[in-house]
Amino acid sequence: MRLPRSVREADVKAKIVLVRVDFNVPLEDGSVADDTRIRAALPTLELLRERGAARIVLISHLGRPDGVDPAYSLRPVAERATELLGSAVALEDATGPITLRENTRFQAGETANDASFAAQLADGCDLFVNDAFGAAHRAHSSTEAVARLLPAYAGLLLTRELEELGGLLDQPARPFVAIVGGAKVDDKIGVLRSIAQPADTLLIGGKMAEELRERSDLDSVDALVELPDDVVAASAFEPDAETQTCAWDAVPNGWLGLDIGPTSSARFAEIIAGAGTVFWNGPMGVFEWDRFAAGTRAVAQAVAACAGHTVVGGGDSVRAVQELRLAQRVNWVSTGGGASLELLEGHDLPGVAVIPTS
Ligand code: 3PG
Repeated sequence: MRLPRSVREADVKAKIVLVRVDFNVPLEDGSVADDTRIRAALPTLELLRERGAARIVLISHLGRPDGVDPAYSLRPVAERATELLGSAVALEDATGPITLRENTRFQAGETANDASFAAQLADGCDLFVNDAFGAAHRAHSSTEAVARLLPAYAGLLLTRELEELGGLLDQPARPFVAIVGGAKVDDKIGVLRSIAQPADTLLIGGKMAEELRERSDLDSVDALVELPDDVVAASAFEPDAETQTCAWDAVPNGWLGLDIGPTSSARFAEIIAGAGTVFWNGPMGVFEWDRFAAGTRAVAQAVAACAGHTVVGGGDSVRAVQELRLAQRVNWVSTGGGASLELLEGHDLPGVAVIPTS
């Protein structure tokens, strides 16, 4: 994998550094509900401070606002970043040592990759560091156009994500077991096909498994494809529905398979235990509802216990390992949703491609 030049190579002393971060975090009642992405940006910010940057100007999007909308203000993010960094991250204050500019998506130019909005962002800055892996698949002013206006470098998080996810496609330790679940088959079919090249075994769960039985997408892949034999079926798509564990082809008429069954969970866990490399994206069932969470839990525990190199990517599986407090036991938990899928599909990420290599 081609790696862009790292911020470690930049001379940042006494420079004003513009840093694109992905502070697109969930908010609840006006505060940050999950600060994982803010924490993930700290090493780059600490490096810049240690190396004597004069000022750090942070830029990020938050959500998908339609113009200026106070509900999408980065103010709660600035407050949380201040707590985590132990020094003030001032919102829209042009003088402080660390400033966070307001949501880039308040400006129409941002998503149009407009050069004049990029010039406004770059104005007064000496260097650009992109550490927003989660947004690197977007060709926007703050990720792409701006990198053409200043000497551009990759932040530590961006580089690690490229190494971890790129490493899955390049030279994974064997056997390489990829576990893919979730409901959005069409969103993930490209990744499935791509990961099936280096993978030795594909474990498929969730609604994905049901749909793939009826399609020929994986007929020609070399990897061994394992689908669940048994499922937890529900009489309706409701948390308290009547349930029954049965073979996948014995689900009663009108019922729905909402989790993989215990036999499949045990088989998947055994395969994961012997893996040299594991990549997991997507839950095995509707794990938000306790009665359909066992399959996802079993996979999360098996991934955490695996002695091989383990990588988890994609919103729901990341949430599962975090809720089960297993994230510390996974080698890498990706901060990217769409970006990690695009990378694994083999696409160039515009926010990465624009940064020179060293
Ligand atoms: C994400 O949450 O996946 C990134 O921050 C990108 O957000 P977007 O899909 O709104 O561009």
